[in-house]
Amino acid sequence: MSKLFNEMEDFDKIEKKISGWTLRPVDKEKTDPLEMVDLNSGYAVEQYQWDYYHQAFALTQDRELQKLFARISLEEEEHVSILGSIIDPKMTYIESGIALQMTAIQGFTEAAQLEPDESLRNAYNYMLLDHLTQMRIFSDTALSQGTRSQDITKDSLRIMEGRPFEKQFIPTEALLKQPLDKDTADIMSFVNAHTILANETQLRNDLQMFRKTLPAQDLRRLFNMVAAVENLHILMLESLLDPAISPLEYAMINELMEIRKHNQGMQSAKHKDIRSAHEYTMKEDEVHLSLLMDAYSSYGPSDRFELTDRLFAQPEMSTNKYINHFMDQIHQAI
Ligand SMILES: [Fe+2]
Ligand SMILES: [Fe+2]
Repeated sequence: MSKLFNEMEDFDKIEKKISGWTLRPVDKEKTDPLEMVDLNSGYAVEQYQWDYYHQAFALTQDRELQKLFARISLEEEEHVSILGSIIDPKMTYIESGIALQMTAIQGFTEAAQLEPDESLRNAYNYMLLDHLTQMRIFSDTALSQGTRSQDITKDSLRIMEGRPFEKQFIPTEALLKQPLDKDTADIMSFVNAHTILANETQLRNDLQMFRKTLPAQDLRRLFNMVAAVENLHILMLESLLDPAISPLEYAMINELMEIRKHNQGMQSAKHKDIRSAHEYTMKEDEVHLSLLMDAYSSYGPSDRFELTDRLFAQPEMSTNKYINHFMDQIHQAI
């Protein structure tokens, strides 16, 4: 890791470095849906990991490890800035909401196909149904304001009813799931769960931020309602994780999540700036992973966290195809 911006001493250099974190946004009209989803999810994983390093820093007694978390967190700040700067700032709140719902839905359909653990698969399918309804309501709301959701989704996603809103509120007891065991569970289960958590956290946090600056009361109420459900989903996902996992292990899983997401983003990117942003952040995240693995070697074998081809496995079905297949299964079961 070369000198970080705070270590450059010369303010001109610092300013130059930080200026480079703001790229030119890519027009929403010109963005392909998959490209937009990967950009949003790429941003979500960066923000999730940045936030995690701060939490881990505060929970760590080892001074050297604290220093490592601090230094990497500053690079994550750079990644958050770079990826966020490409997202079109001309998007309205409801358009951003639709793009984030599209990101969430895509994430669930991918994780449900790639996930080896049945209870996690069930949890992803469960949450997918809530999001289909949320997306339908966002789409109707957009239309009432003269915006077509298809302008964002470009028809990559069929708008349909999933689970009605009134059934999305379940008691606390029902939210808590059997946690994974970090010693026996497949590491990919953790990578999938962290990715979904990152998407969900971004959706909730953005809705919280949007509603604060929104003058329209009805849209505020809709965002309140969805953010409330997102809190339930986040708790459900957090209950699946192993509470015995160490901050170092958690951070390595997050780095694997970042690397996978940016690799995917490089594949889907049509615009060269989007591709190079994913590539740049991915290369630095690969360095982060190896630094963490080195630090971990004094605690135990780190080979479970190594980068392998399994990380880059692709789901068989597209989002629409998976949703149709899943809906058929539900209807057959009734
Ligand atoms: Fe990163
Ligand atoms: Fe990273």
